[in-house]
Amino acid sequence: MANAAEKKPFQKLLDRIENAENMTPGNKAGIIDFLQHEHPGDVLFTKWDYPQIIAKGKGARIWDVDGKEYIDCITGMSSMNLGHSDKRIAEAMYDQYMNQLDNWFDFPTPERLKLVNRLIDITPGDFPKRVRLALSGSDAVENAIRLARYATKRQHIISFYGAYHGQNSATMGLTGSGRMTSYYNPMPSQDNCIEHFPYPYAYRNPFGGTEEECVEQCLNLIDNMMSTGVTPMGAPDAGICNVAALIVEPCQSSAGYIIPPKGFLQGLRNLADKYGFLLIFDEIQTGMGRTGKMWCCEHEGVVPDILVFGKALGAGIPMSGIVGKAELFEDIDVSFICSTYAGYAMGCRVGNTVLDIIEEDHLLEKCTATGEYMKPKLEKLMEDHPSMGTYNIRGVYLGMEFVKDRETKEPAKDETHDIVNVCRDNGLLCQLNGYLGNRISFIPPINIEKEDVDELFEILDAAITEVEKKYGYI
Ligand SMILES: Cc1ncc(COP(=O)(O)O)c(C=O)c1O
Repeated sequence: MANAAEKKPFQKLLDRIENAENMTPGNKAGIIDFLQHEHPGDVLFTKWDYPQIIAKGKGARIWDVDGKEYIDCITGMSSMNLGHSDKRIAEAMYDQYMNQLDNWFDFPTPERLKLVNRLIDITPGDFPKRVRLALSGSDAVENAIRLARYATKRQHIISFYGAYHGQNSATMGLTGSGRMTSYYNPMPSQDNCIEHFPYPYAYRNPFGGTEEECVEQCLNLIDNMMSTGVTPMGAPDAGICNVAALIVEPCQSSAGYIIPPKGFLQGLRNLADKYGFLLIFDEIQTGMGRTGKMWCCEHEGVVPDILVFGKALGAGIPMSGIVGKAELFEDIDVSFICSTYAGYAMGCRVGNTVLDIIEEDHLLEKCTATGEYMKPKLEKLMEDHPSMGTYNIRGVYLGMEFVKDRETKEPAKDETHDIVNVCRDNGLLCQLNGYLGNRISFIPPINIEKEDVDELFEILDAAITEVEKKYGYI
């Protein structure tokens, strides 16, 4: 407990903003207003010294209230994969609102029937499926967990350290990202049945082994804990499995845009089949073309029992849901969930339009090509900058890690923080994250143009140079 004389966290934030030297007037006044009237979310004040008030977006660019322009490498946390203000989305929304239907409760509509059929077609798995639509990613994950528990009649769920699956009461227990979950302990009672395991963050193998050993070690630990009967997850010798499902992000996004080595997803599929639990892929952030395929799990050809989607399907308005094996829904009639806005006609129309645009503009191919275009630039950064420890990229899903020394891998936390802030000052908004606060992620629109990519790397290169000079690396 803070003692009475110590400043409250909110007052410290306010001081930080009031004393920020290079904040422009509109941003400063707006953030002060915001802090005085709202309870801020976790991200806004943890990524930069101070946040911006973004007023406008077009394509891969955004502008703050004082007119400063930025390349957008945050895209509403991957909700704006198509970039900002695509006319086709605006026209579809106008037409839907004026000539068709906005919302009329959780009923079927022509757009909804169309979207659900398309989702069934474009998700992996050659088996009968069913969809349940929702609004936020957290809603959809909650539905996946309810379904898994009801269908298997088991309670335990396996999740991973560092995972982010949402922040409502049902999903908070799954989220292994400590900064948020620490506020809410103990979790709601049913979520005492959540078991966290290490994620294969190979660069910092949690077992202390080599990068090559990482996947096997992570999988072995789950296997051992499932097979030995030393945890409540089950006792195979007595024929008991208490695990309903394992939920995983195919790449761990909010934790630092970490791509696990190949073999991880297949290994999880094998474990699910061996012990008879369900496999849930949370593709809320990795899906919708972000990694150059519609769903990230397609890179490994691994099929989940339930796939969770959200964010970019709505191009800025809430849309999410799950697609699962039809048999999982067999014992449930109509009472699984009901919601005023789930499957609302406007959201479905936008979802259909987003899918049309991905096809029309060949965005999966474009995203893959852009990722390839970035690779030599990343190699050049590695050559030129001793503080760059590693990077991982798939499509336009990019994470970079900064270290004081490539041998010891000591995290360069202050340097990383400074790089993100210098990038911001120079017109590039990217995100500070990582288990140790020494990673930066870049999730621009998946249709970002080459010229924007060139400028992105110029700003980034100059920012790393400036910070390396400041800390005496070069
Ligand atoms: C992988 C993943 N799952 C779930 C969520 C929660 O989605 P929402 O913020 O829409 O509730 C997020 C949000 O960032 C996410 O990245």
